[in-house]
Amino acid sequence: MPAGFLPYGRHWIEEDDIQAVADCLRGDWLTTGPLVEEFEQAFARAVGAKHAVVCANGTAALHLAALADGVTPGDACVAPTMSFLASANGMRYAGAEIIFADADPDSGLVTPASFLAAVERAGRPVKMAVIVHLNGHPADLVEIARIAEQHGITLVEDACHALGGRYSAEDGQIVPIGSCSHSVMTVFSLHPVKTVTMGEGGVVTVNNGALYERLKMLRSHGMVREPGRFVNHDMAFGSDGAAAPWYYEMQYLGFNYRATDFACALGLSQLAKLEKFAERRATVSRVYDRHFSDLGETVRPVRPSAGAEPVLHLYPLLIDFAAFGKERAQVMAELRSRGIGTQVHYIPIHRQPYYVGRDGPADMPGADVYYQRALSLPYYPLMEEADAERVVREVKQVLGING
Ligand SMILES: Cc1ncc(COP(=O)(O)O)c(C=O)c1O
Repeated sequence: MPAGFLPYGRHWIEEDDIQAVADCLRGDWLTTGPLVEEFEQAFARAVGAKHAVVCANGTAALHLAALADGVTPGDACVAPTMSFLASANGMRYAGAEIIFADADPDSGLVTPASFLAAVERAGRPVKMAVIVHLNGHPADLVEIARIAEQHGITLVEDACHALGGRYSAEDGQIVPIGSCSHSVMTVFSLHPVKTVTMGEGGVVTVNNGALYERLKMLRSHGMVREPGRFVNHDMAFGSDGAAAPWYYEMQYLGFNYRATDFACALGLSQLAKLEKFAERRATVSRVYDRHFSDLGETVRPVRPSAGAEPVLHLYPLLIDFAAFGKERAQVMAELRSRGIGTQVHYIPIHRQPYYVGRDGPADMPGADVYYQRALSLPYYPLMEEADAERVVREVKQVLGING
């Protein structure tokens, strides 16, 4: 990357993170070792959940959540169209037929109304729904959970953008995202552009003990090694009643979605910095909010969710490119030539050829409007206020905004 270039997102690895990984590599465990459980416990504590299950990446976490819920081929499942592909694909891997929920054009979030519309469009019982906290702004979980409960739908939060955030519950109480206060499971990604990273990594948080056990089994081949859980007693136990020391049983069709011990070493070290990362991200947001909030409808930030205390992952501006007489690609190219990286999050999933090929074209006007206008600005904890001020200046110059 050229010196002075500001990408749209970037990890922040410090010497103590490197040391934590090096210490692990010098030890006895590379794959599942003691740091896996240590990381899981720290993660569950950080988000106020009973249990956390770490796995290979956020996509695997979404797949595990669908399998643990018992999604089987042909089940109708609701996914947000305005999200990364994995929000739908996790359930699709389990064979689900995906019913997309439209997005609010101003936030990109699924709303209670667009959720209900998707549930009704399914025309049959919906097994599971994934709701994403896009950019880190919490969706209206309280209302969406109420609809899910009325329809017997397992609600899963895709919080890959939202680690460290909080939202407002029924009684005005502020609840951490990941505590599963209004959902059955919550899924996180620890990819390098996310709030904390472990290289590649994902986590499912859950309060239900049976689901927790199932998630752990599914992560590793659907296999059990604890004698108390064996079902095939003839093979498992000898004449003395003791379990054979080599014995294991496969009770589900699981996967190898395990995380390594050294990735968990990095995850633990990074998780301890969550507050610092959140504060640094907020510093950048404050600069952007200050400069972009009063420019009218042609260019403005995403509207924050009511009562929420988010930790943002991305900072998109919503720009009416036609009003500025420029195409988005041209704006991106001009910004790039000035050392400012931007990105578009996301192409609505219902527009992907794979889903159009399966389901035919769908009408999702809210997501289309959001997609047409969204442009993610550089946003990561290593940025200084002066970097954010520079981004503001360059964006205004490229769009021809005075002041
Ligand atoms: C909203 C959302 N869900 C799921 C994922 C998948 O996470 P991973 O890249 O760790 O598989 C991502 C990653 O970009 C994401 O942004």
